[in-house]
Amino acid sequence: MKKLDLLYEGKAKKVYKTDMEDRCIVEYKDDATAFNGLKKGTIIGKGVVNNKVSNHLFGLLERSGIDTHYIEEISDRETIVKKVEIIPVEVIVRNIAAGSLSKRLGIPEGTVLKRTVLEFCYKNDDLGDPMVNEYHIYAMDLAIPEEIKTISQMAFKVNDLLRDYLKDLKIDLIDFKLEFGRFKGGIVLADEISPDTCRFWDSTTGEKLDKDRFRRDLGNVEEAYQEILNRLMGAK
Ligand code: TMP
Ligand code: ASP
Repeated sequence: MKKLDLLYEGKAKKVYKTDMEDRCIVEYKDDATAFNGLKKGTIIGKGVVNNKVSNHLFGLLERSGIDTHYIEEISDRETIVKKVEIIPVEVIVRNIAAGSLSKRLGIPEGTVLKRTVLEFCYKNDDLGDPMVNEYHIYAMDLAIPEEIKTISQMAFKVNDLLRDYLKDLKIDLIDFKLEFGRFKGGIVLADEISPDTCRFWDSTTGEKLDKDRFRRDLGNVEEAYQEILNRLMGAK
């Protein structure tokens, strides 16, 4: 497959057209941002780790019946994916309080939530991805109720599958962000699942093994990303 023009460049990835109408190539960068782009930096090797981690997890989810955009990894940083129309709603799933939830609601980080929490954000960098509810989503026509129903069911299933899988690797899945796309009349899981988009805590020590190390200047950022990849690869 031929890699053609750059279609879109985001903060962490580039997306290219290909000679196939319904396929794109994503290329993962080492660029890191936080706080809606206010903090910028480089995490050496992040692109490679996120490409491999994301593909590994998407493969696992596909085998468990979740439709995803994943087709084939073609290099350390590049993957062929289905060309989807991204739904501009970010879906956040939370098992344990952390980050913006702790801040907003005054729940100490690490508190186990009595129920899994699902949040929606409007994917819009200019506005800083504000949280929205279903009324906003339908009022703004970001998605229709049937799509949100499917997306919510898929998000809970992804949570169950990933939580169980990671538990065996001694990783606690605290929370994560998903994006979905429209493809040939259906909904597929898109974007990435990586230490950029999840909170992973070591089950034994509680050590943070994700982008919070960059956001909060905790050090050993590269090492944490590599540790996640190593554990997944060890598991195969
Ligand atoms: P938050 O606590 O900052 O709202 O983040 C919740 C989860 O979503 C966390 O696992 C990190 C992920 N996330 C992204 O993937 N992209 C983002 O832009 C933000 C703010 C969070
Ligand atoms: N990716 C987002 C940004 O650049 C936020 C984050 O992951 O914390 O700003």
